[in-house]
Amino acid sequence: MLSWDDQAKSALQPAMPPMPGTGAAPASASASSAAPSPRRMTAADKRVINGQTDVNQLVPFKYKWAWEKYLATCANHWMPQEVNMNRDIALWKDPNGLTEDERRIVKRNLGFFVTADSLAANNITLGTYRHITAPECRQFLLRQAFEEAIHTHAYQYIVESLGLDESEIFNAYNEVKSIRDKDEFLIPFISAIMDPNFKTGTLETDQTLLKSLIVFACLMEGLFFYVGFTQILALGRQNKMTGAAEQYQYILRDESMHCNFGIDLINTVKLENPQLWTAEFKAEIKALFLQAVELEYRYAEDTMPRGVLGMNASMFKGYLRYIANRRATQIGLEPLFPNEENPFPWMSEMIDLKKERNFFETRVIEYQSGGALSWD
Ligand SMILES: [Fe+2]
Ligand SMILES: [Fe+2]
Repeated sequence: MLSWDDQAKSALQPAMPPMPGTGAAPASASASSAAPSPRRMTAADKRVINGQTDVNQLVPFKYKWAWEKYLATCANHWMPQEVNMNRDIALWKDPNGLTEDERRIVKRNLGFFVTADSLAANNITLGTYRHITAPECRQFLLRQAFEEAIHTHAYQYIVESLGLDESEIFNAYNEVKSIRDKDEFLIPFISAIMDPNFKTGTLETDQTLLKSLIVFACLMEGLFFYVGFTQILALGRQNKMTGAAEQYQYILRDESMHCNFGIDLINTVKLENPQLWTAEFKAEIKALFLQAVELEYRYAEDTMPRGVLGMNASMFKGYLRYIANRRATQIGLEPLFPNEENPFPWMSEMIDLKKERNFFETRVIEYQSGGALSWD
């Protein structure tokens, strides 16, 4: 257990060292003003990890992209109870309202998501937050943590509205293999950075943190959510479970922002710590991507044993490869499955994958077009 003193010390990151020459009180100073004042913080001194500046000083800004994303997420604020669920309730209660395969999709979906966003919230608040030393990024993470609570609330609200067996749904991550396998893949990366003894500052621990950020942003939020989102939105497109589909659309918008923030964070860690991005590390990340695609594909097969809603599991193989390519290139890796096409162009419009923008991609566009910024 950390003592109160230790906790207080870790909350107060080391202040800037005094300016040279200010370590001792000037000869003219009175005895009562002996304590030297620390040098004022500058934006240039900030670092995303292992920073030595005061984490309580949000400004001067260095990571403006994080602050702008924080403002954008606040502008997207929503609450689950604002969505009317009456049509979903009537449809669910009607014995002929949905097919058994459609009901299976809804229950499996909620079975994964009711606990997934709690995992995400724990990862942020008990893991990532402690190790990120840029206040702008911490500000976004606080907002993100609240949004994960809203998402868990939304899934719970759907479960309650439909009168589903709460015990069955909330235990699915223990009892349904395709869900458990995904969580078991994620948990070691979350546990590693939640360990109270874990500290960044060495090549090994900085790589552990970076790996955890990549798994969380690119593979959990950026890949493991996509079969589920596509299925519920496909129901909504057929005018079924429209309340749930509306909630999922709001969640999807939030998750796209989380994923993009995570990718900017990863790229900034890389930029500030290029020594972490070794060939061995890249090979390890690539193997994790391949494993995650396989796990999500198995989840697709489990949730859709037969074709349903004009989709089948094998279409998801292509879709997951397409998304994995995008995530890989966003963090500077080669595409893993060259020439994959998106089998669900309607999802692309809904998710706006093409319009997803992050700081680094924008910079590339600016560079390529000689300063004329294009958002398309
Ligand atoms: Fe979430
Ligand atoms: Fe999220």
